[in-house]
Amino acid sequence: MRQAGRYLPEYRALKARSSFLEMVKTPDLATEVTLQPLQRFPGLDAAILFSDILVIPEALGQPYSFRDTGGIAMAYRLETRAQVEALAPPESVVDSLSYVTATLRQLKQTLAGQKALLGFGGSPWTLATYMVEGGSSDDFERIKLLFYTDRGLFDALLERLTRALIAYFKAQIEAGADAIQIFDSWGGIVAGADYAEASLRWIREIIAALPPDFPVILYAKGTGTHLIDQSFTGARVLSVDWTVDLRTARAQLPKTIALQGNLDPLLMQTTPEIVRAQTQSLLEAMRDQPGHIFNLGHGITPQAKIECMQSLVDTVTQWR
Ligand code: CP3
Repeated sequence: MRQAGRYLPEYRALKARSSFLEMVKTPDLATEVTLQPLQRFPGLDAAILFSDILVIPEALGQPYSFRDTGGIAMAYRLETRAQVEALAPPESVVDSLSYVTATLRQLKQTLAGQKALLGFGGSPWTLATYMVEGGSSDDFERIKLLFYTDRGLFDALLERLTRALIAYFKAQIEAGADAIQIFDSWGGIVAGADYAEASLRWIREIIAALPPDFPVILYAKGTGTHLIDQSFTGARVLSVDWTVDLRTARAQLPKTIALQGNLDPLLMQTTPEIVRAQTQSLLEAMRDQPGHIFNLGHGITPQAKIECMQSLVDTVTQWR
């Protein structure tokens, strides 16, 4: 989950001098931002590559920026077959995104095996929502209309994204990522029966193309009813949002699949005492259960308080 960002004064200081995109594209800066949360909270187990899921649409020819009012704006809306066919060849993203692999190599060397290094990317479905909607969306009308009315074009786009992500993840693994997290952040907005065709089948295809047994973490927001299906994608870890009851989920899943999650990130805006109590009760619920990786249920918000994060890290690392 996102652990860098605006809640950290040291991140805001860097961002006062360079834009988000400059930081993402400059390996020295991206390395520095990646390491900021670990320097402040040495108890964290893993470094998460500082980048964004939207580097893939950009590498395919559809750049992104941030709206002044919050949220993402893509440079244009992807609407026609001609536009899909005009995207860059999927495998070419590896060359356009050489700054990502350069950052990973630098991180791998700096971390020297002391912390796990996590690479990541968006799911084809989640990336397609941004590309077809033209940015962040409230109703996801366009991507759903495309899925239901022109499955041929929908599949053509998702197939290209799948190929691009396979090449991209292979390059991340080669550059030193110890695990890959796939963010299906908008997996929960499609009707249950259609989730498999809209999103899951592409994720399964990606995981099948990676080295056998390479650890993949799948996070799909709002898909608590699909955990069993997700357990057949080849993902080794399912990362869940805070609406999922971890104990119930644990009981449903095979022991070979680890569960990651799922404290509500909003709690980081409360007090250290509330964070400690909530974290303890989550850990208590999973006492003696196999395969639990403590995590937030989504990314840290800019309003998160440092003292709440400290309380979280202390509570988890001192837990016995
Ligand atoms: O620890 C880390 O920071 C890891 C890096 C990371 C970022 N984005 C950096 C980032 C990761 C893993 C992501 C994933 C990502 N990006 C997702 C999937 C996970 C999720 O949150 O569901 C999505 C949907 C995106 C797209 C995106 N990028 C959004 C929706 C936003 C917020 C836009 C807004 O309204 O502010 C971003 C920006 C972004 N990506 C920030 C960070 C640290 C915030 C930038 C800033 O505030 O300076």
